[in-house]
Amino acid sequence: MRMTAAVMYEQGLPAPYVESQPFRIEEVELDGPGEGEVLVEVRAAGLCHSDLSQVAGQRKRKLPVVGGHEGAGIVREVGRGVTRLKPGDHVVMTAVSGCGHCHPCVESRPVLCDTFTAARSQGLLSNGLRKLSRKGNPIHHYSGISSFAQYAVTVPGTLIKMDPSIPLDVAAMFGCAVVTGAGSVFNAAKVRPGQNVAVFGLGGVGLNSVMAARISGAAEIIGIDINESKFELARELGCTRTISALDPNLVEIVKDLTKGGVDFSFEISGSKAAMTSANAITRKGGEVVCVGLGATGDLYQYAHAALVAEEKVFRGTFMGSCVPERDLPRYLKYFQEGKMPVDRLKSGTMGFDQLNHNLDQLDRGEVVRQILLPHG
Ligand SMILES: NC(=O)c1ccc[n+]([C@@H]2O[C@H](COP(=O)([O-])OP(=O)(O)OC[C@H]3O[C@@H](n4cnc5c(N)ncnc54)[C@H](O)[C@@H]3O)[C@@H](O)[C@H]2O)c1
Ligand SMILES: [Zn+2]
Ligand SMILES: [Zn+2]
Repeated sequence: MRMTAAVMYEQGLPAPYVESQPFRIEEVELDGPGEGEVLVEVRAAGLCHSDLSQVAGQRKRKLPVVGGHEGAGIVREVGRGVTRLKPGDHVVMTAVSGCGHCHPCVESRPVLCDTFTAARSQGLLSNGLRKLSRKGNPIHHYSGISSFAQYAVTVPGTLIKMDPSIPLDVAAMFGCAVVTGAGSVFNAAKVRPGQNVAVFGLGGVGLNSVMAARISGAAEIIGIDINESKFELARELGCTRTISALDPNLVEIVKDLTKGGVDFSFEISGSKAAMTSANAITRKGGEVVCVGLGATGDLYQYAHAALVAEEKVFRGTFMGSCVPERDLPRYLKYFQEGKMPVDRLKSGTMGFDQLNHNLDQLDRGEVVRQILLPHG
């Protein structure tokens, strides 16, 4: 079928993106679903900071590529052998789909799946196939999803069936922002009641960590950002305290408040400076949970002897260390129960024509999660 999609041909174009236009809105071809594949009508797709890093060329991707790695939509067709989903089902689209057989998959760590990781780096679906093209020329998939498009063909593992009463423009944020932010707290850190946490970066992902920390019963939930306009919402969603990342007394304030430092610092801004502060405010025996992503190959510095003597842990976590079929239904239920008001993170909706402009707004830190509506 022919459809409209946002295609990137080149990484590293400069801001302002409204001028350099990294995403071109074009008509592309999408092959129908083959065996073990599903056609989804994408109704909403969220704009993540990782999309911005992809535009900036921080991590190389196979080009050209249709962008987008979180979304929600309606199943329109299923290929042979697909039994878990049927036309009409409402689904969250997430980037993780484990093969079920490799070592990480049998250890319940599908985000590390060998097959999925290899396919992602090749710009293919996790079954190794490619369904997108333009005038006979191949176009790649982004994270096995490519949700900046009117339709997507993907494998069932990336799709989680949801209650159709949940608005699709809210459900879209569960695909990356929610699963990553909440999973960092529940799966990676495993925060226990009474523990103290700090969250660096109060954006789409970080605010989900704030909400998850509140559900976990954290005592102090300290929100830290360079942009103070994020503080009011952060406090409404669970922060007990907000502090500017630029405050020269940041470390002393947090250590005083928590009698020696937080149990967990979540670094969710992607800033190197924030990593240094996150380490400094973490108590002995505590963990720095690393969620924010810098450029491939970027090196970070830390004092090794202190890490050893203070028994600290630096823990990387990708896509909230999720098992999508286990975690997403739970997070969707938290939303329905009012425990995770994810709808509060939606900064607005856009059509394809505003996508490049809205990248600039995300780049300037003016918004939280902007939602693309591919059908207007
Ligand atoms: N690990 C994963 O699986 C995963 C998944 C999604 C996103 N990410 C990464 O997480 C980060 C956040 O993504 P997002 O979509 O929430 O971004 P966002 O742009 O919505 O939010 C980032 C926030 O960080 C703040 N910030 C910038 N510099 C800071 C600093 N020095 N100290 C404190 N705060 C600072 C910004 O003001 C902004 O509020 C990005 O690096 C993104 O690539 C990682
Ligand atoms: Zn993302
Ligand atoms: Zn696997």
